[in-house]
Formats: sequence, structure tokens, C-alpha cells
Amino acid sequence: MNLSRFGKKLTGPSGVPMLMEDMASAMANGGKDSLLLGGGNPAYIPAMQQRLRQAMAHILDTPGAFEKMVGNYPAPQGDVEFLDALAELFNREYGWGISAKNITLTNGSQSAFFNLFNMFAGEYPDGSHKKILLPLAPEYIGYADVGLTEDFFISFKPEIEFLEPHLFKYHVDFDALTITDDVGAICVSRPTNPTGNVLTAEELARLSDLAQAHNIPLMIDNAYGTPFPQIIYSDAEPIWNENIILSMSLSKLGMPAARTGIIIANEETTHAITRLNAVTSLAPGSMGARLALELVQSGEIISLSHDVIRPYYHNKALQAMEQLQYELGDLDYFIHKPEGAFFLWIWFRGMPISSQELYERLKAQRVFIIPGHYFFPGLPGEWQHTQECIRINYALDENVVQPGLHAIAETVKAVYGG
Ligand SMILES: Cc1ncc(COP(=O)(O)O)c(C=O)c1O
Repeated sequence: MNLSRFGKKLTGPSGVPMLMEDMASAMANGGKDSLLLGGGNPAYIPAMQQRLRQAMAHILDTPGAFEKMVGNYPAPQGDVEFLDALAELFNREYGWGISAKNITLTNGSQSAFFNLFNMFAGEYPDGSHKKILLPLAPEYIGYADVGLTEDFFISFKPEIEFLEPHLFKYHVDFDALTITDDVGAICVSRPTNPTGNVLTAEELARLSDLAQAHNIPLMIDNAYGTPFPQIIYSDAEPIWNENIILSMSLSKLGMPAARTGIIIANEETTHAITRLNAVTSLAPGSMGARLALELVQSGEIISLSHDVIRPYYHNKALQAMEQLQYELGDLDYFIHKPEGAFFLWIWFRGMPISSQELYERLKAQRVFIIPGHYFFPGLPGEWQHTQECIRINYALDENVVQPGLHAIAETVKAVYGG
């Protein structure tokens, strides 16, 4: 097949397609012979599912509501009632003083990043080429392939703080961070996928100041963050100002199939995203918005996130940590302190094989993880962590996570010759 540059770039081998193919392969026969610890699927949390089922029942029982949900194209900005309810929620909780004009919906936040990154990086009309700066790599695998031009990212290694034995935390290395004229925007995920890191309030404030000083936006990817779905185990407040593009999602609340992303930004930016929505897909789907509407209007989206979702994942994180620490014993490994999201980022220091090879050995046993090298787009040169780290998802059922972690530990111990 003869393809354009665009076609070649977006259809070639890369991390996200590999991940989605692993998921499909693992699920092909109902997932029976596979242990899928690679993907980013959220857990089935019974209390959340029950509440969403109730919301759907309410729609079905309300005359005309179902017909309205499926029968109309939404506005290109997204479902208007939902946008109003979100603006009210954020103003009530945080006094941001925003209106529905500061919000636009997208078909999942992934597609928002595709649009946003290509809006701020790539070729500019004056012939200059700008990049997206990732101040702390490793960063979300889903960013790596969305750039329509080459040389799309610039990223920086973190500082490493060693905590208890076998535990560490990354920090932004502000001494190394330089923002040159070819940076079009800064982006961080908080909590960070893949590490579970939660940038401190001070780190965020410094990044926000730097972005403002260079007249470029700071994008904060809040897919796991506060106030919903609140998969954060430390204290953290959301931040927003006219120079911040805050991205949120309904996926990790337990609704990834609804494909609902939420962008909160200044009006010029939301207007641009709305136009992109119209051009690329006429409008974002509104099933997710309609389903979540009463949760946002009542504020339950925040209480459920805090009281149901957060403890669920926190408990899973502690269990996974405990099992790994027991199984790995005194091997030379470190786990990034799990502060949020639902991944463990494990660094096998001095591992005799690469993380890619470890991935392949595990895949041969039908155990799926993600090798760490996919999470460093834009990092110049090699670094120990690109080759020695893996990401695992601990959100799933215990009958997947437990044997999966066991298989990983046994395989790694064999690799080290223990
Ligand atoms: C950090 C991060 N950002 C964005 C997304 C995209 O999520 P969605 O498109 O489901 O909103 C994901 C999905 O896993 C993610 O982990």
C-alpha cells in the first residue's frame, strides 16, 4: 500500500498499537489463558457500575431522554447541559470563575492530545518548528505517536529520590530543564502514567510560572487526577489558570467505552478544539456526558471518586506492592512510590536483559506487561531506566494480578540467575 507521510507515521509499528493488539489478543478467547497486566483498562468496581446502571435506568425511565441521547448530533463543543454542570461544579469546589465556554468535550482525552499537540507543535506559519516539552520522562505512552511531524518531543530525565529500601520517587530536575524558543507547549500527566508519580504542588506551580514566562501553555493531563476519578493516594489539589490546559476524562471512573474527554482552558483554546471536533468528527459523542450528567449536577462524581474509587485502587496498590516485595526479596529492584493512577513502575537495576526482552519472555507465557522504553519520547541518548523498567497495571482482578506478578517475579529471578 502506498501511503503518505501521515499514513506511514500513524500506521507504523509503535507502542500504543502494540498495547491495543496485546489487549485484543489476550481477550480473544475471553482472556482465559492470558494475564493482561499491560493495558490501561480501569477496574470493574461494583459500586460504580451499580451507580452508572442506575443513571442509565433513570434515562430509560424518563420520557424522551433516551431518544434525545441517541437521536441528536451534539454541539461540536459537546453536550451543553453537561458543560454547564461541569462549570458549576468547578466553580463551586475551587472558585475558578469559569463558564461553559471554558470547556469542550472530545472523543476521549487521547484524541484531545492528538489535536492539542499538533496545534502547538510542528511547523509554524513563519517556517519555525516547535516541539512539545515533557519535563519529566517517563511519560504516557499514548503521547509518543501522535505528532504529525518528526522530532516532535523534547523530554528531560528526572531526579531520583531514593526512599525506603526498594522504593524511589522521580522529581522534575529544574536545574536541567531549559525552555528554548522551539518549545510550543509543556505537558505533564499528573498522576503520571506509567510511574504513579504525583507532581508536588510546588513542581506544578514552577512549571506553570515557567510556561507563563515563555508565553506557552502548560497542559496538565488529569486522566487519573483530582477531583475525579481521584486515583491519587497523596493530598493533591487541581490547579487551573488561563494559561493551563487541563485535560480530564470519564474513562478511569469506569467508563472508557463512553470515550469522553474534557478540556478546560481559556476560551480561545476551547474554541479551537471545538472547531477541530467539528472538522474531524462533527461532534464528540454525548452518551458519556448524558450518563454522567446527574453525577456531576449532584456532586456525587466527587464523593464517589473519593469514597469508592480512590480506596479501591489504593488497596490494590498496597496488595501488589506487598506481593512483589515478598516475591522479589533482596533482588536489586526499585518500585516507584505509587502515589496515584494504577500502575507500578518497576526498575530492575542492572538487569542482564532489556525490558523488551523481558516483555517477550513474559508474552511467551501469555503474561502481558509494557516494556519501559516506550515511555521516553524525545529523550536524547540512552539511559538506564529506558532499558531496565517495566510498567504493570494492578487494577484488574486478583486472579489476574496475583499470578501475573508471580510470573513476572519468577521470570526476573531466573534472568538474574537466582
Ligand atoms: C495519562 C493518560 N492520559 C490520557 C489517556 C487517554 O484516556 P481516554 O482517551 O480514555 O480519555 C490515558 C489512557 O490510558 C492516560 O493514561
